[in-house]
Amino acid sequence: MRISHRSIEEVRETANLVEVASEFTALRRQGTRYVGLCPYPDHSEKTPSFSVSPERGFYYCFGCQKGGDAIKLVSEMKSLSFVEAVSYLADRSGVQLEYEGSSPAEAEAVKKRTARRRNTYKALAAAAVYYHKYLHKSSNAEQARAYLQTRRFHESTIEEFRLGYAPPRGRSGFIQAMRRLEIGREALDDAGLLSARGGERFAGRITFPIFDRRGRIVGFGARTMGDDQPKYLNTPETDIFNKRDLLYGLPQALEAIRKERAALVVEGYTDVLMLHQVGIKNAVATLGTATTPNHLKTLSGYADKIYVLFDPDAAGEKAIERASATAAELRLDLRVLRLTEDPADWLLEHPAEEFKELLSTAVPVLEYSIRRIVERTRGSDATSRSRAVPEVKSLIQEIRDPVLRREAVRLAAEALGISPRELQSSKTRATTRTSGQRLAVPSDPHLQAGWEVLALILTRPDLTAEPLEKGITSPSLPESLILKPEDFADEEQADIFSVLREHAGEDIDSILSDERIRSRMDQVGALSSEGEKLYPSEASVRQAWLRLGILSRQRAKRGTQDYDAKNRLHEEIQRLKEVLRNNPLES
Ligand code: UTP
Ligand code: MN
Repeated sequence: MRISHRSIEEVRETANLVEVASEFTALRRQGTRYVGLCPYPDHSEKTPSFSVSPERGFYYCFGCQKGGDAIKLVSEMKSLSFVEAVSYLADRSGVQLEYEGSSPAEAEAVKKRTARRRNTYKALAAAAVYYHKYLHKSSNAEQARAYLQTRRFHESTIEEFRLGYAPPRGRSGFIQAMRRLEIGREALDDAGLLSARGGERFAGRITFPIFDRRGRIVGFGARTMGDDQPKYLNTPETDIFNKRDLLYGLPQALEAIRKERAALVVEGYTDVLMLHQVGIKNAVATLGTATTPNHLKTLSGYADKIYVLFDPDAAGEKAIERASATAAELRLDLRVLRLTEDPADWLLEHPAEEFKELLSTAVPVLEYSIRRIVERTRGSDATSRSRAVPEVKSLIQEIRDPVLRREAVRLAAEALGISPRELQSSKTRATTRTSGQRLAVPSDPHLQAGWEVLALILTRPDLTAEPLEKGITSPSLPESLILKPEDFADEEQADIFSVLREHAGEDIDSILSDERIRSRMDQVGALSSEGEKLYPSEASVRQAWLRLGILSRQRAKRGTQDYDAKNRLHEEIQRLKEVLRNNPLES
């Protein structure tokens, strides 16, 4: 079973790499590129070296040297095969895949799977519409409407969040109505809309559709209006409904989160509704779980600051500590606020402005954790207090901001009854990573010079075409300096150079149509992003050429036993150095 070439190309072209990559790491615009922390799990870093070039559809990590296109990223991040990754992206961007050379049975199986998933989404969307209409239109929904009124939810909120009411048992035309839309039992069941007995799962409950980030309905939370247990019935876990990844209200909050670069994470669906209603629109809720690293990852794509709000009896302490580590990795400003009441209820009694004031008292997560540890040991004897020292110390070392750090030290020292110095004594942390950063910090100047030349050729065909073909000229050179593959430090560079030389003056797209280059996507992606950082100009091109020319002759000089050759090379090197010295820095 093979996906046709044309389809693969189409997927590659249609995939929005920035959007795709944003699913795995927070990206920030930087000129024509986007940068962020490397999403590869075996490369955990604190400063961003992951770079995405949207026009070129490439990503590259300067830290771990991984790179490629959207298909490669998805397959590596999600551990999918090439084919699976292509289908995933096709699904996302609505590309209809064509298959070739497949057995009819295989083609059939794939079609079936895709169709089944599509039917799941369709069933969920249809159910949401049905419940929503039922809430508004049915006389059986009187009580539900009254309930929402007592909760003081406005019509516009009910609309925006598509709240609904699932017909009570015995009154339902739901399954028949779905059948009329050609949504059968199987699809309803796949979508988690049926109970174990085959009836309607949410019967008699207020329905809260849960959307994924792209605004597709993937499940429901459904609240009883009485004292039934559980209070909320949720869609069971399916492959499209994963509570640890989803955030209630995300598509509705996204614009505000982006605009304010901040997000609020609350605990209840109703809290999100009320916050929106009073104008605090950057709020989302977890789905009955603590805030997970995945939640933070998702939000970090849009926000720099995240407030986690939770009520005092929540068993969320451990989760907060885990979140703290993730936040540090993502360089998120994570703040914590403990509430005495759910925001939805609190806001019935207080104005939104006051809530914002409350929010401003949220504590940075590290400080919060330190305080918690300290609180736990308060009142205990000196020995047990001293046991908290290493824990507190390691937290303090995470604090980068010197002001916050000093404050944390003061706080902890005071609470633990020890001297601040005891908390500051810094065992040097292993922050220096040993990675072969060939491009960012090349070990060998000859290699570096080579990469620079290649990067310039890739990014500025207009500036490099002539030097490639005619070489660099200068009155002090008897002949022009024309680079050859053998001038490069290693074979890999030499190979890339030979291909690029054949494409002198062509832009990256036509270079990329060359199969020999396609197979070196990683390096090419890296080079083209690197090239932009070199501030390409005529002068910098000349310099790069000259440097590589000099370094290659120096290597040749070292490598030869022939004194005449040594002398000739020595003279050439001297001349090139002189040209380099006189090369204007600005052109
Ligand atoms: P709460 O019990 O605080 O509910 O649970 P709430 O959102 O404040 O609801 P109201 O205000 O009483 O109507 C917080 C969240 O935990 C999940 C839901 O996501 C809920 O919003 N939850 C709670 C469940 O999934 N099932 C439950 O039975 C209870
Ligand atoms: Mn509540």
